[in-house]
Amino acid sequence: MASLSEGEDSKGGSNPTGANAMWGGRFAGGPSAIMREINASIPFDKALWRQDIAASLAHAAMLAEQGIISGEDGAAITAGLKAIAADYAANGVPENWDLEDIHMTTESRLAELIGAPAGRLHTARSRNDQVATDFKLWVRDACDAVDAGLASLQAALVTRAGEHAASIMPGFTHLQTAQPVTLGHHLLAYYEMLARDRSRFADARHRLNRSPLGSAALAGTGFPIDRQATATALGFDGPTRNSLDAVSDRDFAIEYLTAAAQTALHLSRLAEELILWASQPFGFVTLPDELSTGSSIMPQKKNPDAAELVRGHSGRIVGALVSLMVTMKGLPLAYSKDMQDDKPPVFEAAGLLDLCLAAMTGMIAGAAFRTDRMRAAAELGYATATDLADWLVTAADVPFREAHHITGAAVKLAESRGLALDALPLADLQAIDSRIDARVFAALSVESSVAARASYGGTAPEQVRARVAEARLALGME
Ligand code: ARG
Repeated sequence: MASLSEGEDSKGGSNPTGANAMWGGRFAGGPSAIMREINASIPFDKALWRQDIAASLAHAAMLAEQGIISGEDGAAITAGLKAIAADYAANGVPENWDLEDIHMTTESRLAELIGAPAGRLHTARSRNDQVATDFKLWVRDACDAVDAGLASLQAALVTRAGEHAASIMPGFTHLQTAQPVTLGHHLLAYYEMLARDRSRFADARHRLNRSPLGSAALAGTGFPIDRQATATALGFDGPTRNSLDAVSDRDFAIEYLTAAAQTALHLSRLAEELILWASQPFGFVTLPDELSTGSSIMPQKKNPDAAELVRGHSGRIVGALVSLMVTMKGLPLAYSKDMQDDKPPVFEAAGLLDLCLAAMTGMIAGAAFRTDRMRAAAELGYATATDLADWLVTAADVPFREAHHITGAAVKLAESRGLALDALPLADLQAIDSRIDARVFAALSVESSVAARASYGGTAPEQVRARVAEARLALGME
């Protein structure tokens, strides 16, 4: 909905024709209400205000240092920008669609505050390098924020894994009971996924850290600017090397979203496990009350809504990635206005991801794991059948394929009698294969099954404890 009627004067300066105060020189009249509405990015790009002011401060200081503007104008611009920053921080950023975006909103406010010198700030730059710079700075901050969120979730996982290094649960393949594993081992699997996620964000951050500022509209500028100086002032490793690429590159946003989507997939898988585990037939976990909800009709219900929403939000985060990729894929060099649509998906995904990480950290930290139920489930489903086969190989020198076959026959017999493997009488096992003796029963318990899997990275409690110790060191928890 257009909130301003056609022809209404823009706040940025009165103009008899109603044309835009920033670029309206060649226009006979102002844009229509529809044009103003479709053109406006201020409703969302006001989120860039801190970055926009920081980049303008760096640019103004460089212009003065290079003698492109006077020291006096530079000082007035700097003071004005700082006053605007204080005002935005206290009162928010005003939204005037005539001013289109955060860049023109701030420049127009600067003109109100300091008058003529404000018009010198845009020397040797364009909104094209300005928005690329602002957005990179924003995504860089988002990479740092998400790293902290990921580290917190890793710390929660590692803490719970340490508590449950020896807690036994069924391990699944095809969601069928496969072999007993330890809960600590299961939780540390997610620690590993998040470690890869952190390295993806760090990698994206490293690659984005080149400053587009000074690329101007697309071709660079004739003014004697110092791009190294503005890059350094803004914490970039240096300037970008090609101005056409610099103003039209959104790889950094796509890379951020790629890492975000990958992280969201991991969170979604963990959420799905918590949802399953919290269901009555599983009964493996009770989720914290403060991250669950009730039902308005069924008084007994406690629903894992936070986990379900983490699972749901992952779809939106993947959608954000797809949205930006599709926006970018058909664009010739250099800037096109389509690129204004780059920001909403990134902002949305970043907000959702931070929230999902916080919710998941709370659920993991506060989950009451029902280890009795997990252990009982591990006893079902012939989870130690592989241990019988392994015992035949180790103790009776039976080739593994044959051992597999013998074990299959034992499982079939146990199933027909409704018994666990280690409840079968020895005589019945020996009737299947005479090489089986009484020592086999020690191998068939779930404890000996997990303890036996002490290969590096395996599920044995001693392995889990070693990995927890390493992870605690890596996270600075020691
Ligand atoms: N609001 C614009 C954006 O977010 C800023 C760049 C405008 N550049 C231009 N040539 N119209 O992309």
